[in-house]
Amino acid sequence: MVYKIVLYGNPVLEAKCEPVGPAEFGSHALKQLVADMFETMYAAKGVGLAAPQIGISKRLTVIDASAGENPAEQILLINPEILEKQGKLHEEEGCLSIPGFREPVYRAQKTRVRAQDVDGNWFELEGEDLLSRAIQHENDHLDGVLFIHRISPLKRDLIRRKIRKLQKAGEWD
Ligand code: NI
Repeated sequence: MVYKIVLYGNPVLEAKCEPVGPAEFGSHALKQLVADMFETMYAAKGVGLAAPQIGISKRLTVIDASAGENPAEQILLINPEILEKQGKLHEEEGCLSIPGFREPVYRAQKTRVRAQDVDGNWFELEGEDLLSRAIQHENDHLDGVLFIHRISPLKRDLIRRKIRKLQKAGEWD
């Protein structure tokens, strides 16, 4: 099932998400949610999607740096914890919840993360460049942090003003 993506302005996007609990691992409901998140991300042509972006305040995110080109690049991170960051990137970033806006954001060039799979098993993963950016961007979502929180206040206010206009015009929902 393809979910509707929640847009900036909805408080769920700026709330800290709850961990996925032990009873949920391996359940049909969790597997279905993961499948739906991949389906929703591909339908929106994104490279990452976090659960709060479909209105579910849980620490779960899906990533595919190949944007559906290579099934081997499908990544599911449940209850992720970033262990290590190295180097620096400064590249344009966007977000499916803030469509139409892109800004350069500072991120680490390499990220090592620890997370659980759908059965609750812990694993570690290292990402570079686009994958590193995606891991950091999606992990931020789980703490209620958006890429516009990582740009200058001036640029952030400009984007917020433009979004407010779109909201008033009924073009943002
Ligand atoms: Ni995003």
